Amino acid sequence: MTIRAASLFVALLLGVLGLPAAAAAQAPSAADIARGKYVFGATGGCGCHTVPKHPVNAGGRKYDGPYGTVYSTNITPDRETGIGGWTDEQLITAIRLGRRPNGERLVPVHPYTVFNGMAEEDVKALVVFLRTVPAVKRANLAKKLSVPMFESVFLPTWLAAFAPRETPPTAVPTSGTARGEYLVRAVAHCGECHTPRTMTMATDNSRFLAGSPKGPEDSEVPNITPDKTTGLQWSEEEIADYLGSGNKPDGDVAGGLMGEVIEGTLAGYKDMTKADRLAIARYLKTIPPIKNKIGK
Ligand code: HEC
Repeated sequence: MTIRAASLFVALLLGVLGLPAAAAAQAPSAADIARGKYVFGATGGCGCHTVPKHPVNAGGRKYDGPYGTVYSTNITPDRETGIGGWTDEQLITAIRLGRRPNGERLVPVHPYTVFNGMAEEDVKALVVFLRTVPAVKRANLAKKLSVPMFESVFLPTWLAAFAPRETPPTAVPTSGTARGEYLVRAVAHCGECHTPRTMTMATDNSRFLAGSPKGPEDSEVPNITPDKTTGLQWSEEEIADYLGSGNKPDGDVAGGLMGEVIEGTLAGYKDMTKADRLAIARYLKTIPPIKNKIGK
């Protein structure tokens, strides 16, 4: 082969292998990453995937339920033990539809029926951000299910018959009550903790955000509907400030799981803009008041 032929060959080879690979691996822009981080914060920092004070997103947090025990999974970009080897599509399917690349169904502790209500653009941004978080090698712990045929029979039936599923908007609502509703119902998944559950453990959306004496991790979760005697009486400003700082109007601070989602991990509710926190507050004033006394 002459030198010219050889260099032509190399050029062709690069053309075939190099260029498409470079295009596929195009680095996300700083703006894409920032947008993804914003969505991540608005979910509360995906905190269920972080054991407090342990590496972010590395999983291992324990969740006991009526079906058995599951541990949150490693969603860092580690190729072996995390999501590093998954395609964007596979990640989006897991976030929204609760299916892992191998077809396995996720236990709905991961709120996929709710995250299904996230707009395409926001889920994509979230995926971009998840890939930028430091990779951690930490093998997932096996779930221990106590319900027979949980994945093959019980879960699909439950999903079809009982679990309310949010529908994604065609575009991300950017302002007003629609923005607040979108954040509350989908991204920030407030109802996963604040909405009481029926006997089947599905959220009872006829009592949306009416609180629960025994919510996730056995915490007492307040009624945040605008009911005059048992609900949330705070002004829009006060609600927005609470979501941004954890400070209650009476001088107390948010504790437990609420403290966690406000603080978040790499970002949390506190990193939402004031406009978004106010949109949430305004939306909360529009939902039906439900009488449900929680606590003393
Ligand atoms: C992971 C579970 C969880 C999620 C998600 C969650 N909350 Fe909470 N929330 C709680 C708990 C638990 C408390 C009680 C905190 C305490 O005792 O300090 C609380 C308290 C509150 C309070 C204070 C009410 C009062 O009367 O003291 C408000 C307001 C509130 N949450 C609003 C929201 C909104 C709005 C969202 C969604 C943007 C949300 N929460 C998402 C668990 C959660």
